[in-house]
Formats: sequence, C-alpha cells, structure tokens
Amino acid sequence: MIAKKGKRAATSKTIALCHEDNIVPEASPTFVETPYVQDLTQRALAYLEVGYPVHFAGPAGTGKTTLAFHVAAQLGRPISLVHGDDEFGSSDLVGRHSGYHKQKLIDNYIHSVLRTEESMNLTWMDNRLTTACRDGYVLIYDEFTRSRPEANNAFLSILEEKILNLPKNARFGKGYLEVHPRFRTIFTSNPEEYAGVHKTQDALMDRLITIRLDHFDRETEIQIAMSKSGLAREDAETIVDVVRELRGVGVNNHRPTIRSCIAIAKILSSRRARARREDPVFLWACRDILQTDTAKVTRAGESLMGQKVMEVIGTVCESREQEPRFAGQGSGLARG
Ligand SMILES: Nc1ncnc2c1ncn2[C@@H]1O[C@H](COP(=O)(O)OP(=O)(O)O)[C@@H](O)[C@H]1O
Ligand SMILES: [Mg+2]
Repeated sequence: MIAKKGKRAATSKTIALCHEDNIVPEASPTFVETPYVQDLTQRALAYLEVGYPVHFAGPAGTGKTTLAFHVAAQLGRPISLVHGDDEFGSSDLVGRHSGYHKQKLIDNYIHSVLRTEESMNLTWMDNRLTTACRDGYVLIYDEFTRSRPEANNAFLSILEEKILNLPKNARFGKGYLEVHPRFRTIFTSNPEEYAGVHKTQDALMDRLITIRLDHFDRETEIQIAMSKSGLAREDAETIVDVVRELRGVGVNNHRPTIRSCIAIAKILSSRRARARREDPVFLWACRDILQTDTAKVTRAGESLMGQKVMEVIGTVCESREQEPRFAGQGSGLARG
C-alpha cells in the first residue's frame, strides 16, 4: 500500500539537458513538498526575486542540493550547475582560451535513479558562469567552498557591480561582461568542510543570504523515505525514529542522515521485509547501514556501534508496539 505523499512540485519528472549543458529542471515524482520544504522554498524565493544570491549551508544530507534545484526550478529560467572543486582556478569558472574537457557524474536533483553524466567543457564556448551571466540563467554553485577562494573571486564583482571581469582578449572583446538582470545564483556549502579545506571566503559570504539547514523534520523524513522506496508509512516511521535517535549518540550529531533512512527503506521494500525487531532483514540492514555512522562511539577502545544500533531498535520498536494502533502486532525481542 502506498500511503499519501506530500504535494509534488509543479514542474516534473527529471532533469533534461537542454541546449549544450544547461538544464531544464523538472521535479521527480518522488519529490516531497512538506510545509518544511515549502517554507524554505518561499524564503529563498523571496530573496532571489529581489536579486539576492541565496546560500544553503548545512551538513551532508540536509537536502541542500535538492532544495537548490527545486528553488531554481521555480524561477522558470534555464539552470547551469557548477560543482565546487579544489582544482578549479578562476579561469575555470570564467573561461579561458585553452579549454579542456572534463567528465563528471553529478548526483542530481531529486531523481535518485537518474545520474546524469554531464560534461564540463571549460572553454570560452561553453563556460558556464560566463554563459549564465550573459544569458540570465540561474547558476547553482554546489559545494562552492570546495573551490579555492581565489577561484571564486569573479563572484565579488558579479554580485556587487553586476559585472563579470574577463581576461584580456577574451572572446567578448571588452574585458568585461554586463550581467543579465535575470541572472541569479544559489550556493550550497557544508560548514563542516570549511575547517581544514579552505578558509571561509568572508568577502563572498558577506554578499550572500545564508539560510542554515539542519536535518529535516520527522514528517519530511518519513515522507522522503516512503516516496523513495514505496514502503508503508508504519515502517518508514520506525526507520526514521531509529535514525533520529542514533543522531543523538556519539560525537557527530549529523549522522546518520536521511540517506541512511532511504537506504534501509529501499532494502526493506525490495525484500518485502518489515521494520520490526524480529525481522532479520531489518536487523542486518540497520547493522550494515547504520554502524558506519556511529563508528566513533567506543568504550575502552572497543566500538559499541553494533550494540547501540540494536539497543535503539529495541527501544523504538518497543515504544511503537505499545501504541494502541499496533497493539496485538507485538513481537519478540531482537536477538543476536
Ligand atoms: N524534498 C525532497 N523530496 C524527496 N527527496 C529528497 C528531498 N530533499 C532531499 N531528498 C533526498 O535526500 C537525500 C539528501 O539530499 P541532498 O539534497 O543530496 O542533501 P545535501 O546536498 O545536503 O547532502 C537525497 O537522496 C535526496 O534525493
Ligand atoms: Mg549536496
């Protein structure tokens, strides 16, 4: 039985590559739009509509990339995607004369099934930032802090003076390009990665409106787990409760993420298993998928992860079995 999903986004299906490598976003049928998602979308759109660049900052698995695409899709313009990369120089973003060709696999918007092989041709012809500025696209700069700060310098004048400075003798001749009035940017980053990777790019950060993301609320997590797997609500709830409980354990409160919920839900769905403590599939899937995330919890040098995962499953299942709607469906305790 497929339970009711959250409202889907207006645009739909997948991301299609349109001319050259710009993308026309279409939301996946598995996209979930709960009040939590709607609220973030509306806030971001409010800033973008009056011309401010928006920056989604948050730990891995908080939905930054998906939300960036969803918000961009609402603007009704072609989208250009750039992925932060340590090897980027500023010439890579802006373009240069001796281009090179690079293939990248991007885990794209919404569609977990669809991984678009995208090619990045960093020549003048295709350069994404330049094209986006010239033609007024929405540029998504995913994980921008992974690029070196100097590689991102071009954004300072783009955002402030609405001018893209180009190297001398560039194709456009003028040495600069006026930014199209409908050009917009959405940045994403993971603050955990600032440390030890690149110093926070203060001048650029200062020009962005940063919206901080934390993990989804429980209801959104349940709906995402259901929509990505087809699992019944009752099972999705148990998985999400176990994962949320484990986030409180150990040193990293950001893990396990929604990705673990989705992975467990998919396994249960494909194996026709249930999220019950007597179901062996549920137990091994949780052990495999969740143990890595709690690996840092140790006692006397011994990892306590397996034990902790089983303990949490026990507690969550027990309290659910006591709920009136599950009375009579009880089960024995997990062993092993
Ligand atoms: N609104 C949503 N509806 C359905 N799935 C979502 C939604 N938001 C995020 N997801 C899924 O959750 C996972 C994490 O989202 P992602 O955007 O990749 O997070 P981040 O970029 O913060 O690491 C992905 O598998 C993504 O497909
Ligand atoms: Mg991401």
